[in-house]
Amino acid sequence: MKRHLCAGLLSFCLAVFPFVDAVAQSNRTHLLSSEQTTLAVTTNDGGTAYYQYFGPKIQDSDIGGFLGVQSNYTGHTLPQFGVSSAGEKALAVEMPDGSLSVDLAMESVTRSSDEKGEVLELVFKDRVYPLVVKQYFRNYKGTEVFSTWTEITNAGKKGDMKLLTFASACVPLTRGDNYLTQLHGAWAGEHRISEERLPDGQTVIADKAGLRNAFGSNAGFMISLDGRPSENRGEVFGGNLLWSGNYKTKIVATNHSIELISGINEETSTYVLERGETFRTPEFAMTFSSEGKGGVSRAFHRWARKYGMAHGDRLHDILLNSWEGVYFGIKQETMDQMMGDIASLGGELFVMDDGWFGDKYPRDNDSTSLGDWMVCSRKLPGGIKALTDMAARHGIKFGIWIEPEMANTKSELYEQHPEWVLSQPDRPLTQGRGGTQVVLDLCNPKVQDYVFGITDQLLAEHPEIAYIKWDCNADIMNYGSSYLPRNRQSEIYIRYHQGLHRVLDRIRAKYPDVAIQLCASGGGRTNYGLLPWFDEFWTSDNTDAMQRVFIQWGASHFYPAIAQGSHVSASPNHQTGRRIPLKFRFDVAMTGRLGMEIQPKNMSDEEKEFSRRAIEAYKHIRPVVQFGDQYRLVSPYGGSPLAALMYADEKKEHIAVFAYRMEYMADQSLPKVRLDGVDVNRNYRIKDLTPVRADRPSRLDGKVVSGRILKYAGLNVASSLNRPMSSIALELVAE
Ligand code: GLA
Repeated sequence: MKRHLCAGLLSFCLAVFPFVDAVAQSNRTHLLSSEQTTLAVTTNDGGTAYYQYFGPKIQDSDIGGFLGVQSNYTGHTLPQFGVSSAGEKALAVEMPDGSLSVDLAMESVTRSSDEKGEVLELVFKDRVYPLVVKQYFRNYKGTEVFSTWTEITNAGKKGDMKLLTFASACVPLTRGDNYLTQLHGAWAGEHRISEERLPDGQTVIADKAGLRNAFGSNAGFMISLDGRPSENRGEVFGGNLLWSGNYKTKIVATNHSIELISGINEETSTYVLERGETFRTPEFAMTFSSEGKGGVSRAFHRWARKYGMAHGDRLHDILLNSWEGVYFGIKQETMDQMMGDIASLGGELFVMDDGWFGDKYPRDNDSTSLGDWMVCSRKLPGGIKALTDMAARHGIKFGIWIEPEMANTKSELYEQHPEWVLSQPDRPLTQGRGGTQVVLDLCNPKVQDYVFGITDQLLAEHPEIAYIKWDCNADIMNYGSSYLPRNRQSEIYIRYHQGLHRVLDRIRAKYPDVAIQLCASGGGRTNYGLLPWFDEFWTSDNTDAMQRVFIQWGASHFYPAIAQGSHVSASPNHQTGRRIPLKFRFDVAMTGRLGMEIQPKNMSDEEKEFSRRAIEAYKHIRPVVQFGDQYRLVSPYGGSPLAALMYADEKKEHIAVFAYRMEYMADQSLPKVRLDGVDVNRNYRIKDLTPVRADRPSRLDGKVVSGRILKYAGLNVASSLNRPMSSIALELVAE
């Protein structure tokens, strides 16, 4: 679609204080562009820099048009505390002499490019103190995502500076009829969408838990610029802080402006910057779409597959995970049986979850053994070797669960190294899950080596291990590190993550191919701070397919289907007790990275036969679901009895459509399911992917329908969704 520069765009047309025209002479405006979008930053030598524009693509020849255009936003890309104290600040530093003022002047602007795209580097120096700040802006080649971050250096010779505020970004947005879309949730109910009109005043999206930063809220958010956003219409800004720890995004709206400040949550996180030390803030990723929320989501999805996650270009395996099938009841024979079953259903990978380890203290429940990563020989006499051999015999891959950042106080590890856990010298330990779980001190390089060693030993001894489920079932408790000196205790929330990232870097350097799942009591770590090292996240411990429609819908606003672990589990469901037809469970799980989490032994022959067909069908559409563009069609949040979504490959030749009856009343009429992502100039042949009986597909099966009808009139799903908890999964192939 051709886009035009028009009023009401996300434009930052600034009044350059105090003499617009005079200052404009020494201003330079720098454009960073993607295929459809431009970010413009204007710099003033020896002075400041400010956002000029972020919106539909413009050209260098358009830059002149910015001059003299005034608005009431006079911000800096990096507002500093001290000389001026009113308003929001992205940077506040305590200097070695106690001064709390920063006053940056721009020294240079450099444009460069690397394998990811172009980078604009702005170098600022404080006018009095030896503080150097580099601010970066990047476009990610081949995507519509841009990012910004800073590097803050104490270039002095005389003592430490203290970083008090160190945001990654301070971005102005156009004030209008703005709506804020964000995610909220908790264990077993993650990623619920909240969408409200943005009020005047401050709105904060923040996390303080330390580790599971996607419970409560998520770092991803959208702000519409021109009214309540729809899935395919409206100008929408999308942002996400690429950080695994505590974050804070503050949106300050007045009647005429919006400022958005995003970065590591600085609460109780003062960071000491020694002489010569540089602190790099995490990237704040942002995108702009004139195609509504769907456009923002698709931009993040494409970016994620290319840059934001591991192996986003590789099909992800269909797996069986042992957790809900046997919980802690791991046994060699049971593992063999489960591997045989998933292999016979067409699965490709078996993952042995919690319960396999602990020698002195076998892991029979959640109160012992974290830290003792040796096989429990009572349960697994043949060790891991016997399991990888079994998997090979069954023709599938093998994966294993670990929770390497944790210990239980009842473990050999804790007996040997009580100083390795986060703790406070004179206080009793607060203990988490199982009454005994504690968090290791990843600030400590020895602990980093130990955590790396767990994974290294497993993978070096058993190169056949193809998949690791990396769990994290606690937040930071007992805030205190016996490794860090007294004046650096306030850095634990940050240094923990720097330590973790170092460990993950080492793992990926040595084992680039292994698939690793990011799990934190379900979706507690659904963030792009960690996904670059991980192939996927466990979306939620709640596997109730009905609730998963909501949970996955929310997560899909920022995170792609290929990264969403989505499993078929037992009925009645273990979290909710709800009985849900197997077809519905598959039709929901097929919209992410399909897996099963069930004891297949307990399934009937008919259920197994259906599962075999559904897995086979998923393989047909897997490239579309995992690599394609997602279109959310009918929201389960909108009060409709229906939810529907679709995926399309780039050429819109191969499409998968899913619809679910969320509520059933005899007199209800269903909304139209308009397939936004089809090519209106093509005809599509429809195939029912998951009929309950192979010989009785839906009435839609075999029909050829034009893209125009599918998009404008909609797909008629009423006859297929005429029962409570009925669902449909269709494949559309262009003729
Ligand atoms: C967490 C995970 C589950 C499972 C258990 C094992 O809750 O989210 O999937 O692995 O731990 O203890």
